[in-house]
Amino acid sequence: MKVRDSGMPEQTYWESLFNIDGVLDDLQVDPRIHDAVEVGCGYGTFTLSVAARISGTLHSFDIEPEMIAITQARATTSAIPNLQLSLRDVIADGFGLPAGSVDALFLFNILHAENPVGLLRAGAELVRPGGRVLAIHWRSDIPTPRGPDLSIRPRPEQIATWADSVGLRPESSRLLPPWHFGLVLYR
Ligand SMILES: C[S@@+](CC[C@H](N)C(=O)[O-])C[C@H]1O[C@@H](n2cnc3c(N)ncnc32)[C@H](O)[C@@H]1O
Repeated sequence: MKVRDSGMPEQTYWESLFNIDGVLDDLQVDPRIHDAVEVGCGYGTFTLSVAARISGTLHSFDIEPEMIAITQARATTSAIPNLQLSLRDVIADGFGLPAGSVDALFLFNILHAENPVGLLRAGAELVRPGGRVLAIHWRSDIPTPRGPDLSIRPRPEQIATWADSVGLRPESSRLLPPWHFGLVLYR
């Protein structure tokens, strides 16, 4: 099932809304991460940089064939060898990877899902002990140019409570200018 309100605006506009390296620096996305998983590659906005930073394989999923095709074309152009893209409904079908097999799970702009706790529970199973679930989302405390409706937009404290309920240990949230916040959730 496609996550509600997860359609994308035009690519250039979408990518003008993030400081991609700033987000990844702040979340310490670096070669200490070996294998990782991303839910919803979209245009590959973060995918390509994440793959370039980590030392293992990035498994990235999307439910939309067009998003997989766009991201694959960009990865090919940039000669990124460690990206495994798959067309998959991760809500319905899970990750298809062994439990505890990755260092990090990226949940970027996706936790407004119908069942965020289910997604976090699946993530907690996937990540190895000591590994991290990295979540970012649109802020609710300021007006933002995009983002899901405020009624379904998760706030940092909400994500921390959900995480806690599935055995993930949340760090305090941080601001990721211009429009986002980020949370690191430890397994
Ligand atoms: C709001 S976009 C965010 C994309 C990317 N994470 C980013 O921040 O640039 C959400 C993406 O998740 C994908 N998606 C939605 N439901 C999904 C599902 N059930 N399984 C896999 N991907 C899904 C959408 O197709 C879309 O590309």
